[in-house]
Amino acid sequence: MQTIFSGIQPSGSLSIGNYLGAMKQFVDLQDEHHCYFCIVDEHAITVPQDRLKLRENIRSLAALYLASGIDPNKATLFIQSEVSAHTQLGWIMQTQSYIGELERMTQFKDKSHGKEGVSSALLTYPPLMAADILLYNTDIVPVGNDQKQHLELTRDLAERFNRKFNDIFTIPEVKISEVGARIMSLQEPTKKMSKSDENQKATVFMLDEPKKIEKKIKSAVTDSEGIVRFDPIDKPGVSNLLTILSSCTNTSIKDLEAKYVGVGYGDFKQDVANAVLDILVPIQKRYYAIIDSETLDDILDDGRDKATAVAEKTLKKAKKAMGLGRVV
Ligand code: TYM
Repeated sequence: MQTIFSGIQPSGSLSIGNYLGAMKQFVDLQDEHHCYFCIVDEHAITVPQDRLKLRENIRSLAALYLASGIDPNKATLFIQSEVSAHTQLGWIMQTQSYIGELERMTQFKDKSHGKEGVSSALLTYPPLMAADILLYNTDIVPVGNDQKQHLELTRDLAERFNRKFNDIFTIPEVKISEVGARIMSLQEPTKKMSKSDENQKATVFMLDEPKKIEKKIKSAVTDSEGIVRFDPIDKPGVSNLLTILSSCTNTSIKDLEAKYVGVGYGDFKQDVANAVLDILVPIQKRYYAIIDSETLDDILDDGRDKATAVAEKTLKKAKKAMGLGRVV
């Protein structure tokens, strides 16, 4: 059975972009793979975080994973900072990374652009991400489109390490879903939907109230053509709504285009809103049932222990290959 690893930052409420681009795939994959899903809180602190809010977001993300359908009997769910091998291998992977290649990462450029006091950890974010993945002998990493460049770097770092020291790391493949890998902002559909967008109307959050979700989708920016057609260049707004509908209903965009011939944007948007609600309302119900439960802590304790056992083994091999510590 192949191994899957993926992570999500607890840096605010999750958006439907996170769900459709990543989490939905995780749920589908867990039946036939050996899965690790991580709450990457050490990545979240590469930018300033409020201490109490961060704690809340970590727990909330854990509950959302479960509410979305991650089954702790099938997958290992854990918090990155509770498995110390991540930062240790992260350091080792930093020694194999060049400043130039890290500075070329689009996410680093976007997050550091025009800012003062950018942390050095924002630059060394990708070697920690490589460590996350490599610790578990991961074969496949399901992510949204924006993480593709980080995955390419992970492969380069793993190959570099294997060549220089010992063949320790499995070289992971990236898996990007065909539909939903890049959900766009509802207000500026040429830009990615982001959980940190200042314009609240641009993003549907998984825990938004149903009425609010409906309102946001109904006020999504479209165009004046009045035809439901997939054309991301000339009709980015309508195309984004088609992508969301296609992903939520598992219906091809072609079939949807055929279904909406002669239908106006008002009715089309209502259907998109209903499809999103059909998915999110049951998730929200499950979320509120588990967020304060002890079961959630038990699952995270168990996940930490299982992850630690595997991660420590890989870390030990990597240290030995590099000549760290003493011969034992
Ligand atoms: P993060 O927390 O930004 O996003 C989590 C996942 O959601 C996907 N995603 C989207 N997909 C479609 N449309 C969007 N608008 C959208 N926005 C976000 C992301 O691609 C991602 O899959 N660096 C990672 C976290 C990470 C990680 C890892 C991932 C740390 N270590 C190891 C995989 C493996 C990140 O910031 O994701």
